[in-house]
Amino acid sequence: MTTLSPLLKQATPVQAASGHGVHLIDTAGRDFLDFTAGIGVTSTGHCHPKVVAAAQAQVATLIHGQYTTVMHEPLQQLVAELGKVLPPQLDSVYFANSGSEAVEASLRLARQATGRPNVVVFHGGFHGRTVAAATMTTSGTKFRTGFAPLMGGVHVAPFPSPLRYGWDEQTAVTFALNELDFILQTLTAPSDTAAFIIEPVLGEGGYIPAPASFLAGLRERADRYGILLILDEVQTGVGRTGKFWAHQHCDITPDILVTAKGIASGFPLSGIAASSALMSKALPGSQGGTYGANAVACAAAVATLRVIEDEGLVANCAAMGARLQSGLEKVAAGTDRIAEVRGLGLMLATEFSTADGAPDPALAAAAQRIAVEEGLLLLTCGPWNNVVRMIPALVINAEEVDAGLAVWDRAVTRALGQS
Ligand SMILES: Cc1ncc(COP(=O)(O)O)c(C=O)c1O
Repeated sequence: MTTLSPLLKQATPVQAASGHGVHLIDTAGRDFLDFTAGIGVTSTGHCHPKVVAAAQAQVATLIHGQYTTVMHEPLQQLVAELGKVLPPQLDSVYFANSGSEAVEASLRLARQATGRPNVVVFHGGFHGRTVAAATMTTSGTKFRTGFAPLMGGVHVAPFPSPLRYGWDEQTAVTFALNELDFILQTLTAPSDTAAFIIEPVLGEGGYIPAPASFLAGLRERADRYGILLILDEVQTGVGRTGKFWAHQHCDITPDILVTAKGIASGFPLSGIAASSALMSKALPGSQGGTYGANAVACAAAVATLRVIEDEGLVANCAAMGARLQSGLEKVAAGTDRIAEVRGLGLMLATEFSTADGAPDPALAAAAQRIAVEEGLLLLTCGPWNNVVRMIPALVINAEEVDAGLAVWDRAVTRALGQS
């Protein structure tokens, strides 16, 4: 009998049957509040009627119009729709399927366009599981162990995480920028450095927002040395943080923007955006792929972007995120075992620690497991898996936020009682 690989781990025992909005229904008919959104993917909620209609219509019209063979309308529409939300400088887009693939496309573009071999990544970042993306991933050894030799040319700089260092934000930023300068002086000369690549909010690494002054420091150094700034907005983009792109919380624009996850409400689609001047510096034919910009995925993405605009989902995300964060803070106020509640928009985290301040993955796991038992789907993250994250769909309403918080309050109380 064939079985699913045992290496594939599932965070919950739920057998999903159907979904609508922030609700996921299991095969026994039990209704779960889904605060995982397929790891931040179902931006418009499960099976938004307009996304369903667009995908169904496209399936009946043209499923696959391979984009290095022919052009198709959903792709052209998607380029036009994205033009409305991208920074105007980033006027050229390329599409692939997964986040990892798009990250690698950004790397290829950066190396070819600059003629430089190296990149600098930031400690705790997650960029994917393929070899180049895994090499640039430093959120946990599980993504790298046993996979060597990894790709050359990757240097790791500190990420300014105030909680981890036990410093205030400004001290952490000053330290991280000084270390970056030291790396450029001692490990990879600017003339050998193609790009800095960073998530504006560390995702898998623990939902830690990069301070605006840090991103500004990267932008300034990138401009000074002709290094490209790549923002991996695979998880933070498409409204997730309460702005359409997370970098809009700061006053900077990347040279290359990487997107995926929320862009097509669950259909596999990813992409990169850059200026046409930058894109045209790379080698013709270096971008492509069998399934990239699949017609059904593009139609779903066009519908997704229109729903986000028509239903004001970015503003809803900001408002519901603030409501959820304040509720999480109230829960945290009742215990000294929650080290921090943090995040942006609907990308929020609760970090658990032991009584003496060490990471507490057991308590995080217990709270997550009990929440799932009580009907709230959650995931953990962070290098020690001691962070419980909440990333509900952007369509969530106040009643659903409050219902999730009520479960979370009970789950934390029960988990503390068992610890
Ligand atoms: C920031 C970031 N980059 C890249 C990836 C990789 O995307 P994928 O799993 O689609 O390859 C992820 C996935 O979680 C991500 O969160």
